[in-house]
Amino acid sequence: MASLTTDIQTAITALTQGKPVALPTETVYGLAALADDTKAVQAVFEMKNRPLTHPLIVHVADLSLIKDRLAFVPAYVEAFAQAFWPGPLTMVFNIKASAFDPLVSAGQPTVAVRIPSHPLMLELLQMLNKPIVAPSANAFGRVSPTTAEHVLQSFAEQNLLVLDGGRSQVGIESTIIDATQDGYYSILRQGMICESELRAVDSRLLESKGERPRVSGDLKTHYQPQKPLFYFSEQAALNTLCNKFDNVFVIAKDKPEQDCVKSYHPLPLNAKEAAYQLYYLLREADQSEAEVILIEMPIDNEQWAGVIERIKKAGSAI
Ligand code: TXA
Ligand code: MG
Repeated sequence: MASLTTDIQTAITALTQGKPVALPTETVYGLAALADDTKAVQAVFEMKNRPLTHPLIVHVADLSLIKDRLAFVPAYVEAFAQAFWPGPLTMVFNIKASAFDPLVSAGQPTVAVRIPSHPLMLELLQMLNKPIVAPSANAFGRVSPTTAEHVLQSFAEQNLLVLDGGRSQVGIESTIIDATQDGYYSILRQGMICESELRAVDSRLLESKGERPRVSGDLKTHYQPQKPLFYFSEQAALNTLCNKFDNVFVIAKDKPEQDCVKSYHPLPLNAKEAAYQLYYLLREADQSEAEVILIEMPIDNEQWAGVIERIKKAGSAI
């Protein structure tokens, strides 16, 4: 049975014994294991049902812990680290041969690294002084958990310890940048650190996507709730849905008039609040009696890029 603790030392003991442990971060909860413990990392892939082709993010309290494993660190990394770490930014680096278990990097010559800012997580990483991997603590392709209870729901039958750090304050996964090239960087996954914030620190953002490392967020579908999710831009689109369904869970700026709308949740007006609510509401919708979920697509603007990317991958347009 999965169980909760608030004691960091209990979580460290379990990790050190080679057991995966769910840990809070400011973005979403992660399913953690020591990065250098092959068996524990393997267990993480199995618990999540994650294909081995999808590399993991390494979490550390300080980059110096793994710096000698990196082949090359572009000069701009220092400025990004200063500006955004600890926090919801992941950087992908070139690594030295065999520096990380091939499971961690999915056999690629790179590794993704982040320093999370959640106080419990950061304290744990400081005490542990070892790198840990932590993919989001959900079954592969599903909605990431933003509370310890969500993790318990996903892994109820498994023998998993969950470190309860309250609700994740950011609410969607970190922004990922490719930091493998000296002259430029590119965005691999949108998050709440947006393009203009990155540009303000270093302007060499590569526009064209070209050849990119593989990112699991690159799949067309991802972050999916159990119920069908649709998104719309015009409220009239709801009429089509109401012809087919009697109970629709709606997240939108204004409350729709249609009778099929049995639960309504306002879509927050600012992106930060919307990101905080998004996965939480999708889970609430999954628990409800609704047949389908409908969400209003926010207006395309770079502050909303992280939220929009999640909605597009989780649902389909009507
Ligand atoms: O906010 C987050 O990043 C959360 C928390 C728990 O830290 N973690 C998270 O992990 O979202 P996960 O496994 O759900 O997503 C990791 C993403 C995937 O899209 C993966 O493909 C990408 O990071 N990634 C990992 N290593 C990579 C690499 N070497 N090159 C390119 N992408 C990589
Ligand atoms: Mg994930």
